[in-house]
Amino acid sequence: MYVAQPIEWTDRGVVMLDQRLLPGEEVSYTYTDYREVAKAIREMVIRGAPAIGVAAAMGAALGVLHSSAKSVEALRPEFIEICDALAKTRPTAVDLFWALERMKRRFAELTSRASDLGKIKQGMVEEAQQVHFEKKSTDEAIGRFGAEFMPREGHVMTQCNAGALATAGIGSALGVIRVAFEQGKKLHVLVPETRPYLQGARLTAWELHKGGIPLTLITDNMVGHFLKTAKVGAVVTGADRIAANGDTANKIGTYQIAVLARENNVPFYIAAPVSTFDLSIPDGDHIPIEERSAAEVTHLQGIRIAPDVHAAHPAFDVTPARYIAAIFTERGVARAPYTESLRALATTTHSIAAPSPASSSVR
Ligand code: MRU
Repeated sequence: MYVAQPIEWTDRGVVMLDQRLLPGEEVSYTYTDYREVAKAIREMVIRGAPAIGVAAAMGAALGVLHSSAKSVEALRPEFIEICDALAKTRPTAVDLFWALERMKRRFAELTSRASDLGKIKQGMVEEAQQVHFEKKSTDEAIGRFGAEFMPREGHVMTQCNAGALATAGIGSALGVIRVAFEQGKKLHVLVPETRPYLQGARLTAWELHKGGIPLTLITDNMVGHFLKTAKVGAVVTGADRIAANGDTANKIGTYQIAVLARENNVPFYIAAPVSTFDLSIPDGDHIPIEERSAAEVTHLQGIRIAPDVHAAHPAFDVTPARYIAAIFTERGVARAPYTESLRALATTTHSIAAPSPASSSVR
């Protein structure tokens, strides 16, 4: 089945598919400067929490690779500058900071052992490639755990784009749907368009269509109607940051879908890697929410659709943990109380739960 490739490390540099132009055009750029990678993250050439983590790791490697520093002592402050520039791009998705922390740990290891700059550069490139490589198996494991919770047939709903474009693997929420579909479940995906940036209409619809998975595109204000009337078996979305108590930040609009799902007795699930946990914050009130340009609300693909008035654009919202029936990760399935189950998953290195809806919870 078709899997989009949003980012790749090549001998020429970091190649990124410009997601702003999808579905109309498939255009890729090759970056050789970490500042270009930072700009690409900020300007949404690449987006989606795990994918921007991969981009940050590759940006950090690129910065080290092309540094003109002649000694480890000169490289160290430059590396801090590189990581700071990448960290300032987008504030909500914690995978970005997770990836930079991982690159910093590797840099510290490499520079404590070697003073040969060539070896350090090679080690950093390998680490970034490893971060990317792991996404595939991580997503596949999330997919296997989550697929068990999908209905045998019928409608499922998602939000935004949590597919291959967003993870650089096979997708988290769409990975779950993809694995369930490949197992023979006859799913039909309801895809809210996800205003104002239209990740649902432009990206999720594109990925599902290319993958041969049946879908119906709906506008965001149709969500309640379809949850009430379309016999939806499950809602599954990705996540940008999951607090210690399970409160979850995801694309703006996710919260209202979760509340409407509860109202209509539809289970609402999150699919995300453990790198999306932020156990340093107790709850969702501590998650920084990115404010994006109001022009993305007043304009649609450059065309003004509203008068010149004040418009708001919080890019994410927080769904309280009480609306989340389960969180699918690569290490198992977490259920309430999340304060315990998330900590258990974060501190193990292997899969905990057997993937069955009835018994696979980690408590
Ligand atoms: O602003 P975006 O497009 O980066 O937002 C993406 C989302 O909200 C996704 O649902 C989330 O990152 C999970 S991606 C697997």
